[in-house]
Amino acid sequence: MIAVGVAGAAGRMGIAACAAIDAADDLELRGRADPALGVSLEQILGDCDVVVDFTVPDAALANAQACVAAGVHVVIGTTGFDLAALGQLSGANVFAAPNFAIGAVLMMRFAAQAAAHMAAAEIVEFHHDGKLDAPSGTAARTAELMAQASGRLAPPIHSVRLPGLVAHQEVILGDVGQTLTIRHDSIARESFMPGVLLAVRRVGTLERSPVVGLEALLFDD
Ligand SMILES: NC(=O)c1ccc[n+]([C@@H]2O[C@H](COP(=O)([O-])OP(=O)(O)OC[C@H]3O[C@@H](n4cnc5c(N)ncnc54)[C@H](O)[C@@H]3O)[C@@H](O)[C@H]2O)c1
Repeated sequence: MIAVGVAGAAGRMGIAACAAIDAADDLELRGRADPALGVSLEQILGDCDVVVDFTVPDAALANAQACVAAGVHVVIGTTGFDLAALGQLSGANVFAAPNFAIGAVLMMRFAAQAAAHMAAAEIVEFHHDGKLDAPSGTAARTAELMAQASGRLAPPIHSVRLPGLVAHQEVILGDVGQTLTIRHDSIARESFMPGVLLAVRRVGTLERSPVVGLEALLFDD
């Protein structure tokens, strides 16, 4: 049994994560931390092997610091903060993913492959109007992967925020006389949960830390 706590447990993603952890036979939900519940992260750390963080950009790094200082592994889903700062953390393992949906990870991979073969590209990301950061962590990561694969500047990102949306992204590539569109839609927050549970199960056995991106757990290369 892996003892798991959730930071941001009263939020949209935190509620979905608590339900997924609760339903998994090999995981035990030991704590729900959230200012909205009157429970601090420090109050639950002593009971947890792993903490899942779905909070706000301003809190994620300090939360991760508190986890590893207590010897608790941390799985970070929060976006909109500087992932490079995770390199300074030690004491336990850190795993972060801007997107836990397998379809989104595939979309990023296909976009990077295509970027090496087509002349130009732009990214359009669409999210619900409660999302605090723009561009999304997924779009920023896609642009970074495409820049690495093509050797060109990162493609421009356009951000749309509207009620009714969950998390969607289109990568549009253009070349002489043709375009290619790669699109992913998360239409429910459950789409992220298999990836979150995979990271919870694997974070304690990572051979290096921090590890960024679900692709590191899914693909050999
Ligand atoms: N990685 C992914 O696959 C993925 C998918 C969707 C959303 N996200 C990201 O997850 C984060 C949360 O999204 P959401 O839609 O659930 O937001 P939300 O606003 O619904 O929830 C955030 C929660 O965090 C709580 N919180 C604030 N400070 C805290 C702290 N110091 N400790 C503990 N809890 C704290 C808030 O009270 C709130 O309940 C965002 O950064 C979002 O971009 C990531």
